[in-house]
Amino acid sequence: MIIRPLHNDEKPPFDLLLLADPSLEVVNSYIGRGHCFVAVRNGHIIGVYVLIDTRPQTVELVNIAVSPQEQGKGIGKKLVFHAIETAQSMGYKTIEVGTGNSSISQLALYQKCGFRIVGIDKDYFINHYQDAIYENGIQCRDMIRLSKHLF
Ligand code: COA
Repeated sequence: MIIRPLHNDEKPPFDLLLLADPSLEVVNSYIGRGHCFVAVRNGHIIGVYVLIDTRPQTVELVNIAVSPQEQGKGIGKKLVFHAIETAQSMGYKTIEVGTGNSSISQLALYQKCGFRIVGIDKDYFINHYQDAIYENGIQCRDMIRLSKHLF
């Protein structure tokens, strides 16, 4: 498996991107202003992540996803570490990520990759998404903000 930037003439993997964010409008805006990377195996895209510039010296990992049949095999962790190294090599000092209060495995993944919880954006998903989102039997209401310093 290799992880590489999405080529300019390549179609973004919307099926994967929409796994991480149910809003096509939000996904399109990320793709338009971000750096999209894909994990490719045997010519097939099996993972994706997007980095966007937010504040000075700060980048946000806004969308990360692995094909459902490939999840749980360590690819997500490889993508997060690749995102951290990419952000570092681009000269950023901080990488941030946000996830839902109900996204238990995502919260585990980011913390296992060195991110720390730095805040809660209360009612973010209530205010920004039309339909109620449920995961793990929990309503997704708040965005948990995590951050990692880059050296
Ligand atoms: N408790 C403890 N650790 C947990 C856990 C739990 N409940 N659930 C997951 N983890 C850990 C795994 O054990 C693994 O750590 P380890 O290697 O130390 O054992 C780590 O989290 C992630 O495993 P990995 O196999 O690398 O993840 P993945 O390839 O399945 O990718 C996602 C993770 C989130 C990218 C993938 O599940 C996905 O695409 N989900 C849908 C899209 C999505 O939700 N994106 C994130 C939006 S915020």
